[in-house]
Amino acid sequence: MGSYAKLAKRALETEMPIMVQIQELVRGAKNAVSLAQGVVYWQPPKMAMEKVKELVWDPSISKYGADEGLPELRDALVKKLNQENKLYKSSVMVTAGANQAFVNIVLTLCDAGDSVVMFAPYYFNSYMSFQMTGVTHILVGPCSSKTLHPDADWLEKTLETKPTPKLVSVVNPGNPSGTYIPERLLKRISDLCKAAGSWLVVDNTYEYFMYDGRKHCCVEGDHVVNLFSFSKAYGMMGWRVGYIAYPSEVEGFATQLLKVQDNIPICASIISQHLALYSLQTGPEWVTERVKDLVRNREIIREALSPLGEGAVKGGEGAIYLWARLPEKHLDDFEVVRWLAHRHGVVVIPGGACGCRGHLRISFGGLVEDDCKAAADRLRRGLEELVKDGMVQEHVLLID
Ligand SMILES: Cc1ncc(COP(=O)(O)O)c(C=O)c1O
Repeated sequence: MGSYAKLAKRALETEMPIMVQIQELVRGAKNAVSLAQGVVYWQPPKMAMEKVKELVWDPSISKYGADEGLPELRDALVKKLNQENKLYKSSVMVTAGANQAFVNIVLTLCDAGDSVVMFAPYYFNSYMSFQMTGVTHILVGPCSSKTLHPDADWLEKTLETKPTPKLVSVVNPGNPSGTYIPERLLKRISDLCKAAGSWLVVDNTYEYFMYDGRKHCCVEGDHVVNLFSFSKAYGMMGWRVGYIAYPSEVEGFATQLLKVQDNIPICASIISQHLALYSLQTGPEWVTERVKDLVRNREIIREALSPLGEGAVKGGEGAIYLWARLPEKHLDDFEVVRWLAHRHGVVVIPGGACGCRGHLRISFGGLVEDDCKAAADRLRRGLEELVKDGMVQEHVLLID
């Protein structure tokens, strides 16, 4: 056929996933190391994995389960939400990861043609979830250039426009910004949404990834939905488990959410849900122990970014990211990313994928310290050359 005419406009007009492009880049660049993907280097708790091994032959593992999740996992999550997140009026649906949770929420709360709000730099998958569900009126607000916090004054004005945006989405702590939205600001954003009659969706995927004494907090209300993930905290990326905490008191929410769930995964993988439950039983200390060690990686990467100059590097307050501004003449960040991959053997994410050209997102969670050091050396050498001589093309450097 050779024509796009028969493919859905919704899909055609959705951005190409940056991670797919980056994986191609990693494959194409010889011996490249990745500081690109938002992953952690650890595996799930050993005790949880051992218990799951014993479960494999249990017949319930191979059957469908309840759409909203295993009752024992949901009970444990409600308890966790009470104790750790101070969420007392939330019901839980278990999903195949936080990305699926986000799609569920968009399909449950938004109609094609609604307008929604995000803040740049934004999480690329959330942007794509809006696009591919027909929610193409995406109002992208600014973050403070100093703190990278969402601009609440801009939000206040934007929520006064008609039609009122249906939903506001933030990630806390942020991907890709690596910054934390302080409690007072989050509360203000929540109050603005409530007054305007807009939903607020907070993605708390990195709730445990807080540094330098900062504490994560959530907001609750009958206009607030909180999303969570097991992927990074428990090293469970491939097991695909996340969950939605939605307001119990909103009539019809659970019913509409179930329709979406039943038509996408039916239920999250049963064995994965058991692993999530056992992992949860090891306690949050298991996670925070590991997160504590990431500070060393963060400092190694921060040092590698120093050729970009003072004030160019932000983030690192939370999540697993640093966010760096490239020299002004390098607005085409994808070009820089390709060049770094092919000439210096290190891969990062271009800021353009998050709505902010001329920037890079660097992940410090995916490599053990020694590998992180080796990747950082490449990054530092690349950035020194970029700043001094530009994107030199003569030959591929021999690395390490
Ligand atoms: C902010 C944010 N939300 C959601 C996800 C996806 O998480 P999951 O693996 O639970 O789908 C990621 C993964 O990078 C993320 O950074």
